Amino acid sequence: HWLGCLLLAAVFIFAGCSEGNTDKKTIRLAHALSTSHPVHIGMERMAKLVDEKSNGQLEIAIFPSQQLGSERETLELLQIGSIGMTKVSSAALENFVPELRVYSLPYLFQNDEHALNVLNGEIGRELLLAGEEYWLRGLTYYDAGYRSFYTVNQPVESPEDLQGQKIRVMESQMSVNMVRELGGSPTPISFGELYTALQQGVVDGAENNPPSFLSSRHYEVAKYYSLDEHLMLPDLLLISTLQWDNLSEQEQKWIQEAADSSANYQRQVWAEAEEEAMEIVKEAGVEVIYPDKQPFIELTEPIYDQYRETEPEFFELIQRIKD
Ligand code: PAF
Repeated sequence: HWLGCLLLAAVFIFAGCSEGNTDKKTIRLAHALSTSHPVHIGMERMAKLVDEKSNGQLEIAIFPSQQLGSERETLELLQIGSIGMTKVSSAALENFVPELRVYSLPYLFQNDEHALNVLNGEIGRELLLAGEEYWLRGLTYYDAGYRSFYTVNQPVESPEDLQGQKIRVMESQMSVNMVRELGGSPTPISFGELYTALQQGVVDGAENNPPSFLSSRHYEVAKYYSLDEHLMLPDLLLISTLQWDNLSEQEQKWIQEAADSSANYQRQVWAEAEEEAMEIVKEAGVEVIYPDKQPFIELTEPIYDQYRETEPEFFELIQRIKD
């Protein structure tokens, strides 16, 4: 009769589960990074906090590695409410939320502290919420460090070395302009397709931060990493406004608090991950170059002139924070 007991117990457990979970909501969060990436780890923390706060009633299901599409595609899915959340680079948002183009100005921030003051301050918040009118509500920023060039065939010691090199950029007009000003040939490709593109010579190089260079395994193909640190683009965690408006005030509060707290945690994880990534790629035979940044800064100045003419507002506010 132990079998009978077991069956009875199972019936109770399942009944309990389904009863307790009738109101359970699941929000799908899709992004392009692999699960070892420190930004993914930040999102896992956020999902765990939401689970705890809601007592298991609100679940954030994470789909990494471009499983549900590229950054542009996940943004489109968010706008129509097919998925609830995503995490993208601010550059991927340029075509959706033009105000965010300001972050794509090369060498915009003076240093880490300047960046943090901007992102955590009033301007950062205003820019985070600028996407609301396009159905993309920003929840928080994740640290994505500095982006630098990596190449397959020859090291980039100065901008002249970019001449004739096809460089992968995100789907961002600002990044296209930047690489062009520096003398390279910009080629927009999604992150998930880049490994093969580097391997097959579709592009000669790309640009990214150390944890992305490592976790994508691009360093297996691109053996030169030139730390010119031309961009410091934040990552943004976003929720579809269609999803947001469907949540109770309490649920919105849980998500916002979990997002904020995960961002603080992620900043700590980032610093370590960046250092570790540099060590691992060096050990794997990547040659690290520390170029003089001045020629890169000077060559990208026309981008400021173009930008200032059309939309000076945020740029000037960000400059003022520095002072
Ligand atoms: O290079 C990109 O496409 C993005 O910066 C990445 C690495 C997917 C993170 O958003």
